[in-house]
Amino acid sequence: MQITVNVNGTDHTEEIEPRLLLVHFLRDTIGLTGTHWGCDTSNCGTCVVWMDEEPVKSCTVLAAMAAGHRVRTVEDLERDGVLDPVQEGFMQCHGLQCGFCTPGMLMTARALLDRNPDPDEGEIREAISGQICRCTGYSTIVRSVQWAAEHDQPAELAAGGAQ
Ligand code: FES
Ligand code: FES
Repeated sequence: MQITVNVNGTDHTEEIEPRLLLVHFLRDTIGLTGTHWGCDTSNCGTCVVWMDEEPVKSCTVLAAMAAGHRVRTVEDLERDGVLDPVQEGFMQCHGLQCGFCTPGMLMTARALLDRNPDPDEGEIREAISGQICRCTGYSTIVRSVQWAAEHDQPAELAAGGAQ
């Protein structure tokens, strides 16, 4: 079947198998390997992307279900060489070690801060509760998101001004 999915602002029209998962569409069909695939059980959360502004586990969504929708991946966080505050926060506060869980953590953190610019620790831990990190013990991830909240600015300012 042929589908068109808008990924990070660009339409991608591709022939796919109907059973293809969105995570494999992103990684293997259009070559955006920033989104990781870490399990077969929908537990790890490293595959989180946005579909129409909502974080979703891309291993639980068929690529065909994303047809006609907007998908945002970790590759879209950095703009013109400027890191998103969540990326900067993970760097400043050592929010990663191996980095495997990081793409999903970043997309979840960005979604959280867009909805709640000043989350408390419990809200951050709840937001990332669907994701597994085998390295950090989560404390530095929480600190990274707090750092991002302290240094965040409205998306329209970060993008250079509201239209
Ligand atoms: Fe593990 Fe999606 S790859 S939850
Ligand atoms: Fe290694 Fe999270 S940094 S799994």
